[in-house]
Amino acid sequence: MARPESRYVCQGCGAATLRWEGQCRTCGAWNTLVETLVVPGTRRPDLVLRHSPLRGGTAPVSLADLQDMPLARLSSGISELDRVLGGGIVPGSLILLGGEPGIGKSTLVLEAAAGVARTAADDASGERAPSAGVILYASGEESGSQLRLRADRIGIAGSGAASAIRVLAETEVEAILGHAAELVPALLIVDSVQTVTVSGLEGPPGSVGQVREATARLVDFAKTSGVPVLLVGHVTKEGSIAGPKTLEHMVDVVLTLEGERSGPLRLLRASKDRFGSTDEVGVFEMGDSGLRELVDPARAFLGDPASGAAGVAVAATLEGSRPLLVEVQALVAPGGYGSPRRTVAGIDGSRLALLLAVLARRAGIGLAANDVYASVAGGLTIAEPALDLPLALALASSARDRPLAPATVACGEVGLLGELRPVGGLERRLREAVRLGSLRAVVPAGRAADEIASSAMAGLEIIAVSTLRAAIDAVLTAPATRRTSDAPVVASRAP
Ligand code: TYD
Ligand code: MG
Repeated sequence: MARPESRYVCQGCGAATLRWEGQCRTCGAWNTLVETLVVPGTRRPDLVLRHSPLRGGTAPVSLADLQDMPLARLSSGISELDRVLGGGIVPGSLILLGGEPGIGKSTLVLEAAAGVARTAADDASGERAPSAGVILYASGEESGSQLRLRADRIGIAGSGAASAIRVLAETEVEAILGHAAELVPALLIVDSVQTVTVSGLEGPPGSVGQVREATARLVDFAKTSGVPVLLVGHVTKEGSIAGPKTLEHMVDVVLTLEGERSGPLRLLRASKDRFGSTDEVGVFEMGDSGLRELVDPARAFLGDPASGAAGVAVAATLEGSRPLLVEVQALVAPGGYGSPRRTVAGIDGSRLALLLAVLARRAGIGLAANDVYASVAGGLTIAEPALDLPLALALASSARDRPLAPATVACGEVGLLGELRPVGGLERRLREAVRLGSLRAVVPAGRAADEIASSAMAGLEIIAVSTLRAAIDAVLTAPATRRTSDAPVVASRAP
């Protein structure tokens, strides 16, 4: 068979050209040409790309006859990471770890490498390959001495784990896989997908073609050898890992590490997981000696409970099976000339717009002329509908300059009519709230709320309401004594 050659293949129609062009000449689509390795003379370049035991060459097998996949998961030694992975690393899986540059991805994978080295050494039973406790860390981002510095920092440099981690300063995928095939490590780490290259492709490292082809080969290697691969990828400006979304389809698990780089808190989420649930989160704290698991993550995103300022509400959110109490802040300020500002952090901007409209029409708090800022503490991003009610309460509180009653939590979805809709897992959320000292909870009226109210959860007053307006009336405290400099933005309620 002829050697594969580099071609630019349109992702829309499959036409191939020798050089990159902005527009496909065959179908006219823009920016769809991606560099691909093609065997000349074949009509479907994508089908003959690589020869892998996974594709072609095998006969159909009855589902009943297929062997169970050995799901003996490998512990990463980091319980928060194992939790997000649904119990550990599945053999032969490819895990993509995404996040902004500098968020702590390399730190996390190095800690996971040390953890795997420790657990693999612990259960090195007879059947395992001799190098079962070895981890291959291919780094195209940092030199060996930089890695060594980081290892010093996280306190693994002198340990047995350090001698089990083999660092490879190599960026060519074939070379990395060559070493991996020889060593058969317990885990292969590639940091990062944007630095690796595939021979035969001319595009720069990080280009769509390179990233896709390199990932495809790593997936093949993982599937055929059973060695799990942990691949680091930077999140691009558009928010997708390594540019092309296609990457997320190719891999088994997509993890993202998020947080504010200036703050210590980091949240690890699985946005895709072929072997488990996708909604577990892990909470870490970046300190002087690497990422540490938090002892009480539910409290992490909670501010000072005694502050009693206007514009703050505490949301009882649920991330997977983990309840997190999160502080939501809002600031409503007099607008200047021109269109008013709407600035959000960790909150969906269109959700804020919707809540502002509902507040204006259904609760008599019109903020059309005001600047509005809203954020979630700790650099967390929350996409849950249950955040609606606490956010609306924070907005109302800031607009009226009246704080919420102390030790109040809230959760609930707000509908377009200003009605409150129940959210899932109410009991779990409220149990956590009680544990962290909440005294009252504003929740959507409904069966779940009734049940909790009748079960008399220790010391928690349940305020079950069916509209946003009723919720606001129930928890905003009496107007603060007016100071001229700090007057409320909305002084009176519309009829
Ligand atoms: P890093 O893991 O290199 O991020 P990424 O691989 O995602 O780009 O982490 C870099 C940041 O983390 C850097 O700003 C320094 C900080 N850091 C600590 O605060 N404490 C530590 O122990 C380590 C290792 C890093
Ligand atoms: Mg890095």
